[in-house]
Amino acid sequence: MSAFWQGWITVLTVLNILACFWLIRWTIKKRAGEAAQGEVTGHVWDETLEEYNNPLPRWWLYLFYGTLIFAAVYLTLYPGIWKGVLGWSSHGSQYEAEMAKAKAKYDPIYQQYAKVPVAALATKPEYKEAREMGKRLFLTYCMQCHQSDASGARGFPNLTDNDWLYGGKPEDIVKTIADGRTSIGMPAHAQLGDEKVHKLAQYVLSLSGRASDKAAAEEGKNLFMTVGCAGCHGPDAKGNPALGAPNLTDNIWLYGGSPKTIEKTIRDGRKGVMPAHKKLLGEEKIHLLAAYVYSLSHK
Ligand code: HEC
Ligand code: HEC
Repeated sequence: MSAFWQGWITVLTVLNILACFWLIRWTIKKRAGEAAQGEVTGHVWDETLEEYNNPLPRWWLYLFYGTLIFAAVYLTLYPGIWKGVLGWSSHGSQYEAEMAKAKAKYDPIYQQYAKVPVAALATKPEYKEAREMGKRLFLTYCMQCHQSDASGARGFPNLTDNDWLYGGKPEDIVKTIADGRTSIGMPAHAQLGDEKVHKLAQYVLSLSGRASDKAAAEEGKNLFMTVGCAGCHGPDAKGNPALGAPNLTDNIWLYGGSPKTIEKTIRDGRKGVMPAHKKLLGEEKIHLLAAYVYSLSHK
């Protein structure tokens, strides 16, 4: 927030309090012309309804003054017009106190689970609570990309299927979450021209048993070996976890398995980034997250 808004709010607040005070003083004053007409003000509605000229009840009036005094006291004690004599702040004191309390409560639990291997946390019935904690962390830090059930979305891998870009051993998953993964990238191949891209896509379709044009797929296979695809995805197209190059034979798709999507992938290229979480979360939370992720494909 800039200083302008602080000043703006301060001026409005003080003016409001003064205006309320003035309004009360003004309404309780007897006006000369009205007093002359006795009990009523002379205002008439519907020919019968008249307005009495009674003063505000005392208790009502004091209540008004009370709220004004409350406002003044509050603004002196708490941050409003300036930082307030109590020095209270939602961030400085309250937030930090709550964080410290949560840390004191959860740190021993995290530390205790950190000593148990990921695979045990993921599978043993007695560690259900650890998996629940992992799940809550997942819902806070991971679901915006991988979905709440970890089933993924286009470009964001499904984490429940035991098919891995970067390896599915506990230490691989821990490394993925801690350090992130920047894929080497699927390079664009538009320079090959539409026809070759089409043939390559037909070959990719045939690899996972999808409907494809046999003759085109056969030519696509030759291209796959010669234009460089095999270098990353392997001659058998089973992928390479060191590069993050996906297995193309399993009918599991990161970007989609329709002929159109595959052609787009080959023509324009793709590049996914899994952000690093070590600084944000620390080792112990990552340990729990890895256990949760591992448990999803090891029921
Ligand atoms: C900003 C989006 C984003 C967030 C947030 C995110 N991820 Fe990812 N994650 C990705 C992408 C994209 C990939 C695939 C990278 C690629 O295509 O090479 C990925 C890959 C992974 C993989 C590797 C999957 C495989 O097949 O090897 C794991 C495991 C994973 N994420 C777990 C997590 C966990 C746990 C969290 C929460 C701490 C998380 N991710 C948060 C985008 C995200
Ligand atoms: C430099 C290494 C490299 C080369 C060369 C390469 N790829 Fe890829 N490919 C990748 C990577 C890495 C990905 C995953 C991209 C990501 O998510 O970051 C990928 C993704 C794909 C996908 C998407 C799979 C899915 O699940 O959606 C297809 C299809 C594909 N490549 C086919 C090909 C074909 C066909 C060729 C040859 C024209 C080729 N690739 C050449 C590295 C490569």
